[in-house]
Amino acid sequence: MPAARYDTIGTGYGRVRVPDPRIAALIEEALGDSVSVVNVGAGAGSYESPHRKVVGVEPSAEMIRQRAPDASPCILGRSEALPFVDGAVDACTAFWTVHHWSDQAAGLREMRRVARRRVILMNYLPGAIPPEARWLTAVYFPHIARADETLFPRLGTCEASLGPCRVVPVRLPTDCSDGFLDAYWSRPEAYLEEPVRAGISGFRLMPEAERTAGLEKLARDLASGAWDERFGHLRRQTSFDAGVRLVIAER
Ligand SMILES: C[S@@+](CC[C@H](N)C(=O)[O-])C[C@H]1O[C@@H](n2cnc3c(N)ncnc32)[C@H](O)[C@@H]1O
Repeated sequence: MPAARYDTIGTGYGRVRVPDPRIAALIEEALGDSVSVVNVGAGAGSYESPHRKVVGVEPSAEMIRQRAPDASPCILGRSEALPFVDGAVDACTAFWTVHHWSDQAAGLREMRRVARRRVILMNYLPGAIPPEARWLTAVYFPHIARADETLFPRLGTCEASLGPCRVVPVRLPTDCSDGFLDAYWSRPEAYLEEPVRAGISGFRLMPEAERTAGLEKLARDLASGAWDERFGHLRRQTSFDAGVRLVIAER
């Protein structure tokens, strides 16, 4: 297998990407009566249900290394060629991974082939909210905003490979434990910490000059009170819609 990108950018992932129990509950509900599950882009094992028979598929040895000793088994592989026969399991899941695939349509078709009952994705869904509603990327990191609108699959892309899909909003709690890009929506100081940014591929893959400029602007706005003047109401809000969605295709 070619070297996997997450062998480099995945170091330290498990420390800041702790699955959030409220998001896990939404995934449990979506899994419904599924007993067997293939989890694609399984990484360190986030959101793998302890109540079902799960097998992960993951291209990065570094990510597999971070799986807990009692985690489900995980096969070295890629979404584009899943090593399972047609209809091998009840459900096929993919959380925060489709935007990294080299051929999204092929990977989604593979998930549909392998799943007897349902396919479940969790991603930022372009078009779900106006891009300017995500203050972090709209104001401080427009490079990530542009990348996200292109890299994450739109609903039409999902449906072209999976058939009709149901969309479930994933509102982010203020203390969301899974440190993905928008997770710190009411804790802006967190973005100034390197270990927090290390768990977010958008920060790791963006040009350094733009990252530095965005971080300096955020630090200035926090110190001067400009951030709180504009967005301080978020510190008193209990949840936030950053456009994260479950996309569910029932077979
Ligand atoms: C942001 S991590 C998400 C990991 C895990 N699903 C989670 O929610 O924490 C993205 C994962 O997708 C994996 N990945 C990248 N390209 C892939 C591909 N073509 N097929 C399957 N997984 C891939 C990466 O190695 C990485 O582990």
